[in-house]
Amino acid sequence: MSAPVLSPRRYQLRGVVTGAASGIGRACLELLVEHGAHVDAWDRSPEALADLPTGDAIATRRTDVTDPDSVADSAHEAKLHWGGIDFVVNCAGAFLVGPLADVSVDAVRKLFDLNVLGTTIVTQALLPALVASKGSIVNVASTVALKPSVSNSHYAASKAAVAHLTRCWALELGPKGVRVNSVAPGPTTTPLFRAAGMSAEQETEMLRERAATIPLRRVGEPDETARWIARFALEDSWTTGAVLPVDGGMSL
Ligand SMILES: NC(=O)c1ccc[n+]([C@@H]2O[C@H](COP(=O)([O-])OP(=O)(O)OC[C@H]3O[C@@H](n4cnc5c(N)ncnc54)[C@H](O)[C@@H]3O)[C@@H](O)[C@H]2O)c1
Repeated sequence: MSAPVLSPRRYQLRGVVTGAASGIGRACLELLVEHGAHVDAWDRSPEALADLPTGDAIATRRTDVTDPDSVADSAHEAKLHWGGIDFVVNCAGAFLVGPLADVSVDAVRKLFDLNVLGTTIVTQALLPALVASKGSIVNVASTVALKPSVSNSHYAASKAAVAHLTRCWALELGPKGVRVNSVAPGPTTTPLFRAAGMSAEQETEMLRERAATIPLRRVGEPDETARWIARFALEDSWTTGAVLPVDGGMSL
């Protein structure tokens, strides 16, 4: 049984979660709202957004994080809607599998556009509001940002970039009172791998193989990562520049 990470108090904070319609982002949205936060849920999928829980604490906005105009519109509307922004969780992302010999330049470009530039575009658009609130930025990296792995080198490199942006932004924004942290999840049961084109059988086999090499001998669930993201987002703390593995020990 896992212990709760957050204190039971309710947090009167307002924030944005990208990639909020699925997997880890959706788990974050639900946990943040459970703890009293007001969340602007951004995703590029209108169907998945329509499927999210509703209520006064949630606003959904169709947003493509790779498109600066789409992000600027959503950032403007979110700030107006909530009266300010205290945190952002950069969770929108994609996976790319394939050895160096096979990956296409176009696929690598799209991956970096989403995982690296998307994180940058969103954070930049919300930065004035985050500086005003002395807020918190939480980026989602990956265990493969910390430990090299076979057949997903560009995904790993894109997440290593996210981890390093986290550390650099922590240095840059610390004097303004903004904290910047990152979680580095290991393999987690979400639609990520199917969205990258893996079949159900390939996904099952890959997760089974990975689980066998993880010290805790299992893959993760979205809420296990969401708990640490929520803590970085909500709790005022002295931690900044952290890249926290949430991976059953896989990165050791
Ligand atoms: N699942 C894992 O094993 C795992 C491990 C480590 C890191 N991660 C990272 O966690 C994050 C969340 O992934 P997940 O596993 O929950 O996957 P997921 O596929 O369930 O969720 C990703 C979400 O991002 C959205 N999205 C994709 N492109 C977008 C865009 N251009 N604009 C806005 N939204 C967009 C998708 O519509 C989807 O709702 C990703 O950054 C992923 O790289 C996942």
